[in-house]
Amino acid sequence: MQRSLDRIRARFPGLAGDELLLDNAGGSQILGSVIDEIADYLRSCNVQHGASYARSRVAVERVLAGERALASLLGDGPGPVIIGSSTTQLVFNLAAALAPSLRPGDEIVVSEADHEANVGAWARLAGQGVVVRSWPIERERLRLEPAGLAPLLSARTRLVCMTHCSNVVGTIHDVAAVADMVHSVGARLFVDGVAYAPHRGVDAAALGADGYVFSVYKVYGPHLAAAYLSPGFFAELANINHHFLADAGAYRLEPGGVCYELVAGCAAIPRYLDELGEALDGPAEVGPRARAWAAIAAHEEALSARLLEFLAACPRVRVVGETCPDRQVRVPTISFVVAGMRSSELPPRLAAQGIGVRFGDFYARALIDRLGLRAQDGVVRVSLVHYNRADEVDRLIAALAPIVG
Ligand SMILES: Cc1ncc(COP(=O)(O)O)c(C=O)c1O
Repeated sequence: MQRSLDRIRARFPGLAGDELLLDNAGGSQILGSVIDEIADYLRSCNVQHGASYARSRVAVERVLAGERALASLLGDGPGPVIIGSSTTQLVFNLAAALAPSLRPGDEIVVSEADHEANVGAWARLAGQGVVVRSWPIERERLRLEPAGLAPLLSARTRLVCMTHCSNVVGTIHDVAAVADMVHSVGARLFVDGVAYAPHRGVDAAALGADGYVFSVYKVYGPHLAAAYLSPGFFAELANINHHFLADAGAYRLEPGGVCYELVAGCAAIPRYLDELGEALDGPAEVGPRARAWAAIAAHEEALSARLLEFLAACPRVRVVGETCPDRQVRVPTISFVVAGMRSSELPPRLAAQGIGVRFGDFYARALIDRLGLRAQDGVVRVSLVHYNRADEVDRLIAALAPIVG
């Protein structure tokens, strides 16, 4: 992977130039091949779908190819994939679609570790008598432990919502273990994979998720989101599109339809990952996609190790979350606080040196409040992805050392 980095970086036009963007959990750079697909769709088949003329048929095929690409990024499970403008929008849509099947006294569990996108839309269902419970984060390792969920489950639990990975502290949670617990009481599991999907391959069905959503603009694509739904969960969701579209498959959960050119552009994302894997050495029985994700995880772990080692050696710095770079435990989204300094003070000083990081709660408000970090203006977050180089981490470290060392 290290040897391929120049080739990899050349695929992302936004990486040209000197500014060092370490805010990838906010949004990654987009592949040049995705930009080309979008432009080509607009140039060659920007017509209305569903007509009999040739160009309309081509346009449908191009969008279907994009939809298949998004399904493949979610693991090609047996259920449908729905698409929306963002994860936030998709979750609002799904909450609206679930609402008619909920009765007063039914229960929904949301977590303290989650971005508000996977909390607020569900919590609003309290307005129709649903009981909303909060799954507390385990304070030592900042993990969502199954033991913390167990007392919240009951025969009335309809849905448990959790994040696969924290967008603030980068911890990976054990979705498969939670899925078994949730299913044992007859409830559904909805997973926010937004902070996970840029770093690891996803197989939503194999994890046992009934819903799994991610934001495509953080996985090298355009500003869209996609969600996998298990067949059983999908069947429970009401039509939120025009009344005559109740039998229109996934379209019944996509009011207004999808943005054609952006979805068509997504066809290039799995192609990129497969090409990356094909160029890497590895056992023949492991397919190119899995090889790519394995190499990405190993490279990201090395980047994390470099930064975490530096931060551990700074007496004024406290890493918030896991201090170990292990790829099974975390992704390279690393947050910290500095004693005697508000988190808002640091990013402008790094920006003056051409380095882009951010501070704040990143909309994981309950987490930042639970950690008592509101008065500190939250955390400073450095978020890396596979196209980052070790020398970029070194550049960040050199800029940080005189400020926090
Ligand atoms: C973990 C997580 N979930 C959800 C969201 C919301 O995604 P979107 O901007 O697509 O609504 C974000 C955005 O940063 C996020 O990090």
